Formats: sequence, structure tokens, C-alpha cells
Amino acid sequence: MLLLALESSCDETAVAILRGEPREPASILASEIASQIELHRQYGGVVPEVASRNHSLHLRPLVEQALAHAEVGIGEIDAFAATSGPGLASSLLIGATAAKAMAAATGRPFLAVNHLEGHLLSPFVGTGVVPPHLGLIVSGGHTLLLDVTGPGSYRKLGGTRDDAAGEAFDKVGKMLGLPYPGGPEIEKVARDGRNDAFAFPRSMMREPGFDFSFSGLKTAVLYTLSQRNPETGTPRPGELADLCASFQEAVIEVLVTKTIKAARHSGREVVALSGGVSLNKALRAAFAEACGREGIRLALAEPGLCTDNAAMIGFAGLLRAFDGESSALDGDIDPNMRLAE
Ligand code: KG4
Ligand code: ZN
Repeated sequence: MLLLALESSCDETAVAILRGEPREPASILASEIASQIELHRQYGGVVPEVASRNHSLHLRPLVEQALAHAEVGIGEIDAFAATSGPGLASSLLIGATAAKAMAAATGRPFLAVNHLEGHLLSPFVGTGVVPPHLGLIVSGGHTLLLDVTGPGSYRKLGGTRDDAAGEAFDKVGKMLGLPYPGGPEIEKVARDGRNDAFAFPRSMMREPGFDFSFSGLKTAVLYTLSQRNPETGTPRPGELADLCASFQEAVIEVLVTKTIKAARHSGREVVALSGGVSLNKALRAAFAEACGREGIRLALAEPGLCTDNAAMIGFAGLLRAFDGESSALDGDIDPNMRLAE
């Protein structure tokens, strides 16, 4: 089966073409991304109107580019998928409407895909099989711990009560004067710092359940900055790397501890990490170490599948298409779409 997928939930316009068969590794024939990061950097975050305008400008040339890279004609595509939520309404509409239009024009099925399901299943694109596992999605918009029995069978164990992990990286990056998005910048600077230089809080570690909270950590960084440099609230010379390393370590320790606790609770022997924050090498190393100690297999997404992309949406779409599923062309996007209760 050949499937073309679109992703436009936030600030990346993405198109992918995948070839797949049930229970076989999916081949990504093309995965094109028009990133808007540079455009939004001047505002320090994503501006929804700017994002949707750029999706509509980039989408068509990107579809043509993907077809050319995959060396297939649009008439050969068996199904079309698009992210239909969660995300920015005006951005979601562009990709979902385009995919429906292509499905209608070619008489092929359309599949509405949950962006979070795309992230969740991304570590398994290379095998084509989704085993029972514990999934941690850590992205700019979400921090979600899910017990996964198989594709489409998800139970929420915990989530963030306030900021997502990536959002905390981005907000702290901004406080420290680093460019947007803060996550990769903090990781880079943290390499030269001591991760025990500042004792930042680890929230909700002793509470029952598997929820997270990162707003206290963010406030602690802000408080530390204003305490150490009341005039400007900026880091003292030479302290930036220590602040980054200590903040990053606090986030990692909470994510690892809660996830391992949830794996023990659910008896899952596989832990899968996905989402933009899972690119972080210190996070990957900490998870590898903890999972090794617990005898748990760690499944990680390929780096190109961690931040927003259309290949992960395509893989989730393929699994649904194999089951004979399709979505109604008059179905709506849902900016607040949930993955599990
Ligand atoms: O999955 P993603 O592209 O978008 C959402 O669906 O939200 O994730 C983007 C997030 C941003 O918050 C970014 O700062 C974070 O992932 N991120 C990182 C790293 N690379 C990206 N956070 C920590 N370390 C990184 N290396
Ligand atoms: Zn995402």
C-alpha cells in the first residue's frame, strides 16, 4: 500500500509518502518538511496566523516534491492521511482539507490521524509492529504517559498538569536569552555545565499516580535568576552552562523516575520514547541506563521522526488502513483531540 500523509498541526508543513504491508517495516519513500522555525524565531514562539498562511503557501510544492522524490504519480497513491488534531485550528485545516481534496479527486480513502498517535507509534516505523508497551510522549505541546496494548488501544496513565516538558525547555530557554526553540539550545549549552550546580525542584515525585508538573521548575529558574542578578534577571557570567545542565537534569530525572515507576506498575517490558524532547541525548542516555538496570527494552524513534514530521502520521495512517478503516470526508478537525482518557 502506498500512502501520502500531511502534517500541519503547528509550525512545520510536512508531507511523506510511505510504502507498507501489514506487520512489515514501513518504507519512507519521501519525507519533506518546510520548517517555519526561522520565521517564528523573531517572535520567540509560534504565531498562528503566520503559521497557517505559510502552510497554504508550502503545501502544494511540498506534495509535488514528495511525489518526485518517491518517484510515484498521485494516481498510484492508495490512501491519503492528515493530522486532524490536536493543534492550531487554522493550521490543521490546511493539511486536513488538502488531504481530503486529494482523496476525493482520486476516489481513494482519507484517514484522519491524531498527531499524538503519530508521535506515540513513531519508534516502531522501522519494525512495522507495535508491541505492548509503555509510551512516553515528550513534545513541545504534550507530556503524556500511556499504557499501550497495541495500535489503537491506549490508556492514559499520566500527563502534565501545566507545562509540557518541551514547553518548559522553550520557556526557560527564553528566560536565559537563548534562541527559540529552547530545547536544542539548552542541550548544547548544558554539555559544558555541571548538572548539580543548582538544586532545582523535582515536582510530584512522591505523589501517587503518574502526573507531571513543570511550572514550579520554570519558576525556580526565574527566581534563581532574579536572586543572582536582581538588576537584569540574566545569568551571571559563567553560570549559563550550569543553569542549563541543572535544569535539564531536573526534567530528565522526573521523566525517567515516573516512566520507570509506570512500567513497573503496568508490567510492561518495553518503554518507547517519542516527541521532540526525546531527541535530547542526555535524556536518551538516562533512559538507556535506567531501562538497562530494570531489564526493560527501550524503543527510540529515529531522530528524523522525533520532531514534527509527516512520516509518523503516515505510519499511524497505514496501520489504520490495514484494518480497513477510513474517515468521513465531512469530519471536522479537532484542535483539542484526545488520544486516551
Ligand atoms: O514534537 P515536537 O516537534 O512538537 C510538538 O508536537 O510539540 O517537539 C518540539 C519540542 C520543542 O519544545 C523543542 O524545544 C523540543 O521539542 N526539543 C528538545 C530538543 N529538540 C527539540 N528538547 C530538549 N532537547 C532537545 N535536543
Ligand atoms: Zn508534535
